[in-house]
Amino acid sequence: MTAVRYKVDKGIAWLAMNNPPLNALSHALRSEIVRGIHRAVADPKVRAIVLIGNDRAFSSGGDIKEFAGGAFYADPFLPAVVDIVEAASKPVIAAISGACMGGGLELALGCHYRVARADAKIAFPEVKLGLIPGAGGTQRFPRLVGLEAALNLIVSGATVPASMFKGTPLLDAIAKDSLEEAVRDFAATLLKDGKPIRRVRDLPCRHPQAEAFLQFTKTAVASASRGLAAPGRAIEAVGAAVTQGFDAGMAVERKVFGELMFSEESKSLRHAFFAERAASKVAGLTDKTPQRTIASVAVVGAGTMGGGIAMNFANVGIPVTLLEAKQEALDRGVAGIRKQYEGTVAKGKLKAEEAASRVALIKPSLDYAAAASADLVIEAVFEDLEVKKSVFRALDAVMKRGAILATNTSTLDVDRIAAFTKRPGDVLGMHFFSPANIMKLLEVVRAKKTRPEVLATVMSLARRIGKTAVVSGVCDGFIGNRMINAYSKQALLLLEEGASPKQVDGALEMFGFAMGPFRMSDLAGNDISWHIRKRHYEEHPKQRKMRIADRVCELGRFGQKTGLGWYRYEAGRRDAIPDPVVDKIIAEERKALKIEARKISDAEIVDRLVYSLVNEGAHILEEGIAQRASDIDVVYLAGYGFPVQRGGPMFYAGRTGLGVVVRRMQEFAANSHADPGFWKPARLITQLAAAGKTFEDALPARKSPSKAGRRRG
Ligand SMILES: NC(=O)c1ccc[n+]([C@@H]2O[C@H](COP(=O)([O-])OP(=O)(O)OC[C@H]3O[C@@H](n4cnc5c(N)ncnc54)[C@H](O)[C@@H]3O)[C@@H](O)[C@H]2O)c1
Repeated sequence: MTAVRYKVDKGIAWLAMNNPPLNALSHALRSEIVRGIHRAVADPKVRAIVLIGNDRAFSSGGDIKEFAGGAFYADPFLPAVVDIVEAASKPVIAAISGACMGGGLELALGCHYRVARADAKIAFPEVKLGLIPGAGGTQRFPRLVGLEAALNLIVSGATVPASMFKGTPLLDAIAKDSLEEAVRDFAATLLKDGKPIRRVRDLPCRHPQAEAFLQFTKTAVASASRGLAAPGRAIEAVGAAVTQGFDAGMAVERKVFGELMFSEESKSLRHAFFAERAASKVAGLTDKTPQRTIASVAVVGAGTMGGGIAMNFANVGIPVTLLEAKQEALDRGVAGIRKQYEGTVAKGKLKAEEAASRVALIKPSLDYAAAASADLVIEAVFEDLEVKKSVFRALDAVMKRGAILATNTSTLDVDRIAAFTKRPGDVLGMHFFSPANIMKLLEVVRAKKTRPEVLATVMSLARRIGKTAVVSGVCDGFIGNRMINAYSKQALLLLEEGASPKQVDGALEMFGFAMGPFRMSDLAGNDISWHIRKRHYEEHPKQRKMRIADRVCELGRFGQKTGLGWYRYEAGRRDAIPDPVVDKIIAEERKALKIEARKISDAEIVDRLVYSLVNEGAHILEEGIAQRASDIDVVYLAGYGFPVQRGGPMFYAGRTGLGVVVRRMQEFAANSHADPGFWKPARLITQLAAAGKTFEDALPARKSPSKAGRRRG
């Protein structure tokens, strides 16, 4: 396959990039662009050159698969390609449709003129991978659109339509109908008028108050980018476009790009990017696995979760029946949905008519018969196996053949729930996170009898509603909550030993978590974990009781919703204020346990909490509950606020070194207050550590959900 199709027509050389689907700038494509430019320049018949992509993309940018091997840097390296295009002695015109992003946009900036479709997608997404544009984007883009607009795009990584730059020198013409036609007309006029070649590097870059503006942006971005380095470094490079000449600015860009490329932050963000892609690949499913059509959905239960779940479908135009047991609960649920949409309209993020049509897609009902025609029913009723049993029996009786039945349970056994029906092959878990219309993560729980086509259908549907789906096997808490359970336990032990909720939260937030465990629990509702703890106490009577947490709940301190929790909250505000009432409970329980409070370092807090996630994650891998370590990272990044610049718990452990992790766990086990069993490293960790490997090297475990179910209850 030729990466660039070359043809000459009426004095114009057309270089059509052909690296489907999105013309990623692979080594082969870069080489052929250079060859095509040289050939056209050397051909006396050619008077102008057009660089064009396909409908989906001019070019989506660098081929990040090449980062690992080295082909990314191989000659011709993208900055050199852009320079060669720009140095061409005949006019080069970029014909832009679809994605024109990152390196693709930089290639277009190397061209002398640009003709675009109004809806072409313009972006510099590099910051999302912990990088900055590295092929002249930081220097050429501000010369065409101005410093402020350039910074907005480069620092945010946002995608905008080309039409946003109408009237700026970025776009010389906008194609109304056919892009080829528009380019042909543009080239004809260009040649007729004998316009000189215009190289962006030669254009000035000015701003009336550059220094002040850059300083202001730096401060604003530093507070918004939550510890990420790339956005701030992007300002440094773009700033050089106004404060220095083109070549000096290019040197700044090159230096910053090189430093970021080898930073932990960028490695972690790149891992996160590939991890999310990998999560959609599921063992036992292929592109050929048949899928069922989902044209209508029913949601049972209109409580905290049901309303948000229903909104996901209405948002993409899928009609939803919302079923409830009681009229009052149904009315409350529908009112909650309306309020959410009204809020979005008030923020200007949704048109009122669009909100109204989404609400109209949600049909409230008290009659199970209304679920008869649904292609998928998602149950979100009380977390009680007996209630689930009656609901699943009732649904099984009315639902049509071939319809899929999903449960949103957080902790119950999906195999048992499936067994309540006569169609266990059509049952699986769809574990949404609260608020369900906002949180990206969806754990798709594959039960023992779930049919491949049912799983494949739900994975596609997840994509349709914009969720990041990860497949989990059946066990108590699935991937995310099972791990958070171990993490929360450590957080509570730290209180007994001498830390305060504020110190624990502060340490984790410094590490980069969006919220520490106590603030998170206050937000989610402390009653939820209390309910789970009480069940665990019943199932494992020998298990140590977490008295501090229980006492906080016994006082009705359920968190933000009650104004009191681990902290106290003032009306209308979300600031977590330490509360002497909680301090007193902690002091009393320490006394009862005969523990002398000790000073605990932030490093110990972070290591204990993060390694408790890692150890439980390793068990989850061993048992085949998660397919791969990176799936666990996706769960933690998309659902639990794990710092993306650290790539997820399993990746982070690998970067730290599993040998170090094992040694730290041995130290923690030696603490007189520790539960040594808790800190016994999973066999997988010790094996990988001994071999000097990471979780990335772990072979997929054979699935044994039943064994896993026994392990955790
Ligand atoms: N709240 C969370 O953060 C969260 C997160 C993930 C999953 N979940 C799970 O989602 C499910 C629902 O949780 P929730 O927090 O929305 O509970 P909720 O108590 O807020 O809502 C449950 C709703 O189900 C209704 N209901 C009960 N029995 C019914 C029946 N037989 N038919 C129809 N409706 C019935 C109730 O009237 C109530 O409105 C549980 O399984 C829970 O474990 C909850």
